Amino acid sequence: MIWGAGGHAKVVADSARLAGWTIGGFVDDSHPLRHGRPFFGGLVVGGRETLHSGIAVALALADCHARLHCAQYALDRQLWLPVLAHPRACIASSARIAEGSFLAAGATINPDVVLGVAVIVNTGATVDYDCELDDGVHVAPGVHLAAGVSIGERTLVGIGAVVKPGVRIGSDCTIGAGAVVIRNIPDGTTVYGSPARPRPALADIADSTRDASEPPPGDSPTPPAAAAP
Ligand SMILES: CC(C)(COP(=O)(O)OP(=O)(O)OC[C@H]1O[C@@H](n2cnc3c(N)ncnc32)[C@H](O)[C@@H]1OP(=O)(O)O)[C@@H](O)C(=O)NCCC(=O)NCCS
Repeated sequence: MIWGAGGHAKVVADSARLAGWTIGGFVDDSHPLRHGRPFFGGLVVGGRETLHSGIAVALALADCHARLHCAQYALDRQLWLPVLAHPRACIASSARIAEGSFLAAGATINPDVVLGVAVIVNTGATVDYDCELDDGVHVAPGVHLAAGVSIGERTLVGIGAVVKPGVRIGSDCTIGAGAVVIRNIPDGTTVYGSPARPRPALADIADSTRDASEPPPGDSPTPPAAAAP
């Protein structure tokens, strides 16, 4: 069963078929009106209540929070979450990959990499030796992670980003498409650009666009001098 019925589910289903799995159907929790309808050469069979032990469940939700939530649901119920890899993914024998992870076509996982639960290494992404990716990380297509990079839970590394050796990226971060990450990134931070810098807060943007002659917000204008008697 493929858990998810969107664009990423097509990529997962295609990989599963090429890897020799038979697809029993797609699971969609969000849109009950799709239940019973055809999707990508199969059927949307229902919501998560249709899942039961003994069948393999491939997590196919691109959103990191949703995917990890579903992984937890499945593990709590002893559902079978295999590691699913496209036949053209290249995986070192010493890599350790936890359940529910997905490796797309052209993904490369080098020696001694550790991947947590429900990690995605997407099309053509490379993960060099000794990298550690926590549960729910999504490494988007064309990303290159140099050796010894570590990434915290539920972080998205956007399309084509590059990360220098040994950099630590925190949990719940978003790394913008095409970013070049050269320094550690704290938890919960969105960065983009080259070199990658944090997205400015809205208040900072307002500050940078204000005319220098204007008083900052909250400052009351200087009262007029009292008229001489
Ligand atoms: C970084 C990101 C999260 C920012 O999203 P956002 O907060 O909605 O940003 P906005 O689109 O409002 O853009 C805000 C500013 O940042 C710039 N910006 C946004 N993303 C950028 C990026 N990746 N690189 C460089 N600049 C970027 C915009 O040009 C804009 O600049 P401006 O204010 O001077 O016009 C998003 O653009 C991104 O890159 N997401 C990754 C998507 C991805 O790869 N998904 C994986 C799919 S498999």
